[in-house]
Amino acid sequence: MKIFTSLKEWQGWRAEVTDSPVGFVPTMGALHEGHLSLVAASTEQDAVTVVSVFINPTQFDDRADFDVYPNNFQQDIDRLEAAGVDAVLLPDEEQIYVDGYRFKVTESDFSTRFCGAHRPGHFDGVLTVVMRLLNLVQPDNAYFGEKDFQQLQLIRDMVAAFFMPVNIKACATIRETDGLAMSSRNQHLDRNNRTKAASLYAALKQSRTAEEAREVLTGKGFDVDYVEDISNRRLAAARLGSTRLIDNVEI
Ligand code: PAJ
Repeated sequence: MKIFTSLKEWQGWRAEVTDSPVGFVPTMGALHEGHLSLVAASTEQDAVTVVSVFINPTQFDDRADFDVYPNNFQQDIDRLEAAGVDAVLLPDEEQIYVDGYRFKVTESDFSTRFCGAHRPGHFDGVLTVVMRLLNLVQPDNAYFGEKDFQQLQLIRDMVAAFFMPVNIKACATIRETDGLAMSSRNQHLDRNNRTKAASLYAALKQSRTAEEAREVLTGKGFDVDYVEDISNRRLAAARLGSTRLIDNVEI
């Protein structure tokens, strides 16, 4: 497995890749089974699998969240190697934001709702880094989790809006045995809140309406940002202590 910390070296290597298709999984590290399911989808379907690990500062609207975001590079590298990944990109902020973040992608409609309403600038940060990474990697296929449903939809829309030559592949949410969607932030939950956290998925699935789910969650001690239905999905974000959890289910 090749590991690139220099984007110049990465671009030199990429120019020599003739095998296709090339698959790409962007991540912020602290890798778990959810991330690895995206990697497995790529190693199954693509001749070459590339993963990036970059904790993108521009998508953190909350400095405290950025400061405690888990990072475990060596374990991530070991997991990616075991998963049969061909190349890992570990760029730093100076290389990704060569322009000092003067240029960004801004979406003015869907990104202002749901998570965007509670996290100003978050989706601009996500879209901007994803566009930069897609331009750097030039994959045929790029894999994203349905766990971050609004993010997935916005990335699909961006790729269509800018005629970007990449297929966006959606992967199902991987859950713990009690239903909690796997997330790097779950490690911040204390034992009590970790037990409670399973109620998020249960409430979304079992309630007849979004309003009912909100009431159930509030009753269990969640601080609910939103629960809303759009077409055939129910989306929610809620906090337990200082940990913000998101999830969504098909309805
Ligand atoms: P991160 O949270 O590390 O997630 C990387 C990818 O893994 C995303 O596509 C996310 O939806 C997917 N993922 C996370 N948990 C999952 C789960 N339980 N089941 C299935 N897929 C899951 O999302 C980001 O990073 C960043 O915003 C990024 C796209 C890398 C841009 O910085």
